Amino acid sequence: MELRKINPEDAVAQWEYTTVLPEDENGLTNPYHGVSLEEYKKSVLPTLISYEHPVNMPDWFVPETFYYLWDEDCLVGEFRIRHYLTEALRNGSGHIGYSIGKEYRGKGYGTAGLGLTIQMAKSIVPEDEIYLRVKKDNIASQKCMIANGAYKAGEDEEHYFMRIPK
Ligand SMILES: CC(C)(COP(=O)(O)OP(=O)(O)OC[C@H]1O[C@@H](n2cnc3c(N)ncnc32)[C@H](O)[C@@H]1OP(=O)(O)O)[C@@H](O)C(=O)NCCC(=O)NCCS
Repeated sequence: MELRKINPEDAVAQWEYTTVLPEDENGLTNPYHGVSLEEYKKSVLPTLISYEHPVNMPDWFVPETFYYLWDEDCLVGEFRIRHYLTEALRNGSGHIGYSIGKEYRGKGYGTAGLGLTIQMAKSIVPEDEIYLRVKKDNIASQKCMIANGAYKAGEDEEHYFMRIPK
């Protein structure tokens, strides 16, 4: 299993994943649901790659790197790392967002992929802890986080705010 950064060579597999990922599932948003392969290659892929070193983006935009989890030649999930916290991220979605493709869920990929992503995030984010947010009814994601050393640092009506010490 490996985490591979978004790249043009893997365009078709990345597109297949992105185009079927729901627009919003448990708070993980995807504006590219249903996008064509042509549109993905021409516009979505360059945009997502550029988020690592954003150019001409608003002040509030934090650099974000997209990774895909691969098992042999199967792309099974997506993991995104936001490089540092702003007030909005600190009190919102935190450093990491992720999903596993529907047909691959419940096989340990979420837990393993989050583990690899946390290792990666440790060398990127300057904060002492990795911040994560999860909906209270999203038990599978909470289990992925807890298995990777997360503790509950707070909550609001809908979410738990979780943190993993570096
Ligand atoms: C959350 C998500 C990434 C989990 O991925 P996954 O590959 O299914 O996770 P795992 O297989 O590692 O399972 C983690 C744990 O959750 C449990 N689990 C899996 N699906 C479950 C479900 N539907 N209900 C309850 N528990 C579930 C597993 O049994 C496992 O428990 P264990 O550690 O006690 O064995 C995946 O369900 C997903 O992509 N959901 C939609 C997007 C999302 O919610 N992203 C996270 C936002 S915070």
